[in-house]
Amino acid sequence: MQRLNEHQIREQVPDSVDLSLIIRKVCEDNGLPQHVAVAIFNIITFVSFDLAHNYFSMQRKTLSIRDILNIIEFMRKNKDLLSLEAAFKHAVELVIVDGVCLGIDIAGQDEKESIINDCQQYLARVMDVVFGVNADSLKIINAEGQFVNTLQTIGVEPFMMPKKQDLLIQNSFAFEAETTKSNLLKLIRAFTLGKPILVEGPPGVGKTALVENLARQSGRKLIRVNLSEQTDMMDLLGSEYPTTSSAEQDEDEDQEIQFSWCDGVLLQAIKEGHWFLIDEMNLAQQSILEGLNAILDHRRTVYIPELNREFECHPDFFVFACQNPS
Ligand SMILES: Nc1ncnc2c1ncn2[C@@H]1O[C@H](COP(=O)(O)OP(=O)(O)OP(=O)(O)O)[C@@H](O)[C@H]1O
Ligand SMILES: [Mg+2]
Repeated sequence: MQRLNEHQIREQVPDSVDLSLIIRKVCEDNGLPQHVAVAIFNIITFVSFDLAHNYFSMQRKTLSIRDILNIIEFMRKNKDLLSLEAAFKHAVELVIVDGVCLGIDIAGQDEKESIINDCQQYLARVMDVVFGVNADSLKIINAEGQFVNTLQTIGVEPFMMPKKQDLLIQNSFAFEAETTKSNLLKLIRAFTLGKPILVEGPPGVGKTALVENLARQSGRKLIRVNLSEQTDMMDLLGSEYPTTSSAEQDEDEDQEIQFSWCDGVLLQAIKEGHWFLIDEMNLAQQSILEGLNAILDHRRTVYIPELNREFECHPDFFVFACQNPS
């Protein structure tokens, strides 16, 4: 039998000449001017080299081409809503800054804040040098807008989420509180990208409540599961259960047991287009993470061997996950 040709892909982010070429090409294809490509290149190299040089923990942080594509896609999707420089600033905050300390072991809160601060300062420099945005104009771009909740939309200016139905519910959740409002802006900003969202934060700060209340206010049905170390994929997707009717049992004691499939909560949400909240995501077993892969990435499908069937995710199906820092 002929062996496979072996080819090893080495680094996550290619060397800087390749990187610059890729960014320029994707920007061009998405109608973004060349100075945006320069700005993105600068930010990516800052995180991959400067931050990694200054903080030992950041040496384990890897950015991928997917991050670059996400920045560009966010800018393209928001080109009618935001100015070019505002779109760049929000894209970098969403894709790089908000998650810069995720997935790596960082000694303490001080180091986290220092890394985020360095990112914000560098971003301000790029805004100044590449887009000519001075400190005063940056303050205006950075100022958070009003919380808005009307019959048709909910959000924090400029990021609005259309409601699924005309709806205005009275409840005791304070979206207007400064931290909650800022988290809501980040959540809806991330939602515009259309990719699953992971919310990480200490216990009791309101992660789950924010997603639940946003779902309620925007008229989406939310299905929530709390993962534990024992949860496996079949708990989420469904299983076959024995079914015997009592009449059949009376007729023939030795009758074969019939099995019938029962959808799990995740498959239900995938088919019907609900929001799905995975709480305590950090407790997920490896098999769950692998099982979720095709659902969470661009494929948006799930294959169920027991049914020998592949299901495509409904366009409205959306995944949120919450976890505490490890
Ligand atoms: N802006 C707010 N207005 C009113 N109540 C809030 C607000 N933010 C959080 N809460 C309340 O704080 C409590 C804790 O919130 P929640 O359970 O969502 O925290 P969490 O971050 O998910 O915690 P854990 O990590 O333990 O799951 C809840 O009772 C929630 O309703
Ligand atoms: Mg919670």
